[in-house]
Amino acid sequence: MERVVVVGGGQAGLSVVSKLRALDYSGKITMICGEPELPYQRPPLSKKYLTGEMEKTRLYLRQQSYYTENNIDLMLGTRCEEIDINASSVKANGQSIPYDHLVLTTGSHPTKLPARLGGDLGGLYYIRDLADITALQPELEENRKALVVGGGFIGLETASALISKGLQVTIVEAAERIMQRVVAPETSAYFRNLHTSKGARLLEGVGLKQLEGGERVQKAVLSNDDELDVDFVIVGIGVQPGDALAKEAGLDISNGIRVNAKGQTSHANIWASGDCTSFPWQDTFIRLESVQNAIDQSETVAENIMGAGKDYEFVPWFWTDQYEAKLQISGLGTGYTSIITRQGNLEDSVSFWYMRDDDLIAVDAINDPRSYMVGKRILEQGISVDPETLGNPDSDLKQLLRSKR
Ligand code: APR
Repeated sequence: MERVVVVGGGQAGLSVVSKLRALDYSGKITMICGEPELPYQRPPLSKKYLTGEMEKTRLYLRQQSYYTENNIDLMLGTRCEEIDINASSVKANGQSIPYDHLVLTTGSHPTKLPARLGGDLGGLYYIRDLADITALQPELEENRKALVVGGGFIGLETASALISKGLQVTIVEAAERIMQRVVAPETSAYFRNLHTSKGARLLEGVGLKQLEGGERVQKAVLSNDDELDVDFVIVGIGVQPGDALAKEAGLDISNGIRVNAKGQTSHANIWASGDCTSFPWQDTFIRLESVQNAIDQSETVAENIMGAGKDYEFVPWFWTDQYEAKLQISGLGTGYTSIITRQGNLEDSVSFWYMRDDDLIAVDAINDPRSYMVGKRILEQGISVDPETLGNPDSDLKQLLRSKR
């Protein structure tokens, strides 16, 4: 019987296998999952799961019965050690497992703080796996002093969870503004004000010089030579693609596992999807760290394993929740030439529309799901927009959807 082997049990891996079964794939499916947990959703780890508002069982993408009923062989807590391309098999748990199609959904892992900066001290935490949150829980006592290194989504979401639990939080962001990698200055400014108003101490353009302590971290020296007493440190300074296994097997690697528009690696019956891949987009290759990409690219791979011959087409979307604010992003703002600001109906709702000359390329909607939805539809349908209508808060947004290109 034919067999698909999936390496990686995150959102991407689960999306491949669930789509295969939804398409009535009748062969064997084996999932090799490094973590000892059923596949689960990661976004709540830095949000409601961290604050204790969400139960662990609600993190699971499917319950155990799903895998049993759909005849999916889950190997939990098992690392795939090697891919033998010539033999079309992988090694895990000392066994050799043959495949007809192999799918690599090996995700990404947090960038580590170097040991020379104190990265090997106790009291340092990363936010990626369920086990990271379990390890962090005992630190979450009121009034403890937390330092958050990195003002990206992970650092800022974690900071807002810690503030809501009554901790004292300092955030240091080495770049000149928070979330600089993904959003325009307007959106950074909104979230800067929000964090400051909630009582976080936010330092931008300030990096970490050194963490100091005995076994555990006790003090942080910042790049501006300020010194802080700290009880523990959260490190959220970005992620690296999980491409080691693919690299050892000799697959093409370039900022992650290089795949074509169908999700195929440089070897025909080896596919890859999610955070670990770089794939064609417009006239370049990109890597996306997002749930949307993990789901949609994986479903395209599943369809292609079934012979669809389909290219991955998508409008990316992202979101972050910080305190009561929800930021929803549609599109990619890279290379924008101007921003149009549109006030929303509520006091704290606003949207920022990224234009490249006359074209909309992305929207950041804050507490404004309507702007997000309309922006997403404009991007999906390639509609041209009138900047004046867009910027006028009294104009009807839906009107924008009527003028087709
Ligand atoms: N000191 C302070 N800040 C630093 C340092 C440092 N030594 N090194 C990096 N930074 C900052 C970067 O400037 C950047 O703003 O850390 C931030 C990391 O942000 P991201 O690269 O967006 O990564 P992160 O927040 O860790 O999130 C990782 O997980 O949930 C997803 O969407 C999220 O894709 C993102 C991924």
